[in-house]
Amino acid sequence: MSNKFNALVVNKTEEDFTVNIEPLSFEDLPDGDVTIRVHYSSVNYKDGLASIPNGKIVQSYPFVPGIDLAGIVTSSKDSRYKEGDQVIVTSYELGVSHYGGYSEYARVPGDWVVPLPDQLTLKEAMIFGTAGFTAALSIHQLEKNGLTPEDGTILVTGATGGVGSMAVSMLAKRNYDVTASTGKESEYDYLKKLGAKQVISREEVTPEKLRPIGKQRWAGAVDPVGGKTLASILSSTKYGGSVAVSGLTGGVEVPTTVFPFILRGVNLLGIDSVYCPKDIRETLWKRMATDLKPEGLEEIGNEVSLKDLPQTLSDILAGKVRGRTVVNLQSDQ
Ligand SMILES: NC(=O)c1ccc[n+]([C@@H]2O[C@H](COP(=O)([O-])OP(=O)(O)OC[C@H]3O[C@@H](n4cnc5c(N)ncnc54)[C@H](OP(=O)(O)O)[C@@H]3O)[C@@H](O)[C@H]2O)c1
Repeated sequence: MSNKFNALVVNKTEEDFTVNIEPLSFEDLPDGDVTIRVHYSSVNYKDGLASIPNGKIVQSYPFVPGIDLAGIVTSSKDSRYKEGDQVIVTSYELGVSHYGGYSEYARVPGDWVVPLPDQLTLKEAMIFGTAGFTAALSIHQLEKNGLTPEDGTILVTGATGGVGSMAVSMLAKRNYDVTASTGKESEYDYLKKLGAKQVISREEVTPEKLRPIGKQRWAGAVDPVGGKTLASILSSTKYGGSVAVSGLTGGVEVPTTVFPFILRGVNLLGIDSVYCPKDIRETLWKRMATDLKPEGLEEIGNEVSLKDLPQTLSDILAGKVRGRTVVNLQSDQ
C-alpha cells in the first residue's frame, strides 16, 4: 500500500485561503484507534462553511473538512472493530477540529464509529449522512413526544435541503401526511415525488406580519430553518403538538412569545446530532436501514468526485443544491 493518498485540504494564512486536492501520508492523520479507507463522504451546509475563510467551523489550518464518512476499517486498536468491517462515522469533532471525510483515509477514536447496518450500503449511509441522521433524530423526538400519523399534518421546512428532503421522505415512509415548505417554486414536483402530500411556499409558512397565536394547523414540524419561520410555526402548531428545531438557515433570532407554550401546550424540541448519545445513534442508524429508509433513497443522492467537490461546497452555501450529495472517494484513483 502506498503511503500517499488524496485529500481535500483547506489552508488559511495571513495572505491567502486555499482549497486544494493534495497528497497526504498516514503520519499526517490525527491520532485515533481506528483507521478507515473512506469510500464515501457527503456534503452538508456545515462543510460549505468549513471551505470558506470566515465560516467559523474550522479551528486550525491546514485542515481536511468533511463531517461524514463511510468506509472499511484497515486497522484498529479498538477491540470492537477489525480490519474489513464496514463502518460509518459522523458528528463529534469530525471535520471540525479532527481531519474529516474528504480524504481517502481517515483515523478516528473508536467511540465515534458506528457499524454499518446490514440493510445499508456505504453509499446509502452517506446519502443519509448527518442530514439524514438529523432528520431521523427529529422524527424520533417527535414520536417520543407522542406524535403519530393519526394526529394530522406534519410540516417540514427547508424541504429541498439535506435535512428537509430526508425528513419529507422518511415521514412519508412512516405514513405521515406531510406538507413541505420550500423557497424554490421549480421543485414542487420533486417534493411530491419524495412523498409530500402538499407543497407550500416559504411565504405561506412565514408571512411578513407574525401573529403571536394563529390558526392551529400543524400536528408537528421538522424545522431546519429556525428564525422567524420557527416563531411562525410555533404560533400555528395544534394543541399539544411538537416542533423539532435543528437549524438556522433562516436566522438565529426567534421572535416568539410564551403564548404557544402556555395556551396550547406546544413542545419545542431541540435537535443536536453532534453529541447525541451513542446508544440513540446506533438505534437510529438501524432505523434508517429499516422503517425510516425511504423508497427512492438513490433519487435523493447526487454523486461527485473529490475534484468536483469545491464547486459543490460553494453551491450548497448559495442554496443551489437539491437533496443530498455524496462524495465518491474511490473515483479519483
Ligand atoms: N442540529 C444539528 O445537529 C444539525 C445537523 C445538520 C444540519 N443542521 C443545520 O440545519 C440546517 C440545514 O442543513 P442542511 O444540511 O439541510 O442544509 P441545506 O442542504 O443547505 O438546506 C437548507 C435549506 O434551507 C432553506 N433555506 C435556505 N435559506 C433560507 C432562508 N433564508 N429562509 C428560509 N429557508 C431557507 C432551503 O430550502 P428551500 O429552498 O426548500 O426552502 C435550503 O435548501 C443548517 O442550518 C445546518 O447547520 C443542524
